[in-house]
Amino acid sequence: MPIEVESPEEMGYATIQYNLAESSVRDIYFRDLKVNLDDLFMCYGEHRGKLELRNEIVRNEIGLDADNVLVCPSAATALFIISTTLLNNKDHLIVLRPNYATNIETPRAINCEISFIDLAFENGFQFNIEKIKNAVKPNTKLISLTSPHNPTGVVFDSKILEEIIAFAEEKGIYVLVDETYRYLNFQSELIPYYAAKSKNVISVCSLSKAHGVPGIRTGWLINKDGKLMHDFLAAKEQIIICNSVVDEEIAHHILSQKDYLQKTHQHIRQNFSILKNWMENEQKYLEWTEPNAGVVCFPRIKNEYPVDIAKFYKILYEEHKTLVGAGHWFEQDDRYFRLGFGYPSKEELLQGLKNIDASIEASML
Ligand SMILES: Cc1ncc(COP(=O)(O)O)c(C=O)c1O
Repeated sequence: MPIEVESPEEMGYATIQYNLAESSVRDIYFRDLKVNLDDLFMCYGEHRGKLELRNEIVRNEIGLDADNVLVCPSAATALFIISTTLLNNKDHLIVLRPNYATNIETPRAINCEISFIDLAFENGFQFNIEKIKNAVKPNTKLISLTSPHNPTGVVFDSKILEEIIAFAEEKGIYVLVDETYRYLNFQSELIPYYAAKSKNVISVCSLSKAHGVPGIRTGWLINKDGKLMHDFLAAKEQIIICNSVVDEEIAHHILSQKDYLQKTHQHIRQNFSILKNWMENEQKYLEWTEPNAGVVCFPRIKNEYPVDIAKFYKILYEEHKTLVGAGHWFEQDDRYFRLGFGYPSKEELLQGLKNIDASIEASML
């Protein structure tokens, strides 16, 4: 997948000075966590995940408890477990596009039938609920939604998601809500997990995006159906048995700290206002849909500007050491790109934005 081949990890972080490609905040050092692991017993962990960690994951969540949580080595693994457990080649899936690649590629690998709900720039990347309803077939097994959304940063209206959930329940269809970006709610309250609303809903999240620790590969899925959770657990056991106890201990330490995200949200708010000002008042080549949460948006180069797009990305990276996520990472035209504003420092963001402008100008036909 291009998003993997061309990711900053694969390109080499040292080659990128202005990293505007990330969908997360800046990573932190282990030493900053002040966690002591000396007394950690290095056994296999509880297969469902450390109980205290599962309790923390659903602390303050009404209608959910630790039994509804399966800790997985990352949201990506949780998504893999969900797809491989629920779907086979006779099933039908309805999924939003663009999307995080795994939400599309794993179902493709399973060879199930897929209907895409395409999100258009012209509609502010919103979707029409009737399109989802009309896409349902007798073999529809799963509706797959991502909110806050990657790569647009759009948060879908809770009422619309609730309507889809009620509709899916009536039809006996499962709903996946990939909520991996939920903790990046820098301008609103935390939205409760959708899994609390129905046994048909599976929520997914992780510590990768907001907490600065994607390296511990810790995520989870949440669902209230005991039988389904048993199947998910069996799938996890086939893949990995249990999580790393080291990762779980660190995850528990992080989630049990109050106000862990306060500084992070401050940083995102500051960078977001820089970005918004730049988009609306300083640059002229791009148009966008303003994101509501997360740390990414998906602007596009206006059609009226004739730009050699391949040259734009080349100049941006090779001359300005600046990386953004090209549209083709998300099966979209390369006039779009994902711009991550939470990872860079304020100074890096300011310079990175200038570099985008300069690279568009230098690529004008
Ligand atoms: C929507 C979405 N879900 C899941 C993931 C995977 O996250 P993790 O690092 O927890 O595997 C990503 C990563 O970009 C994502 O964008």
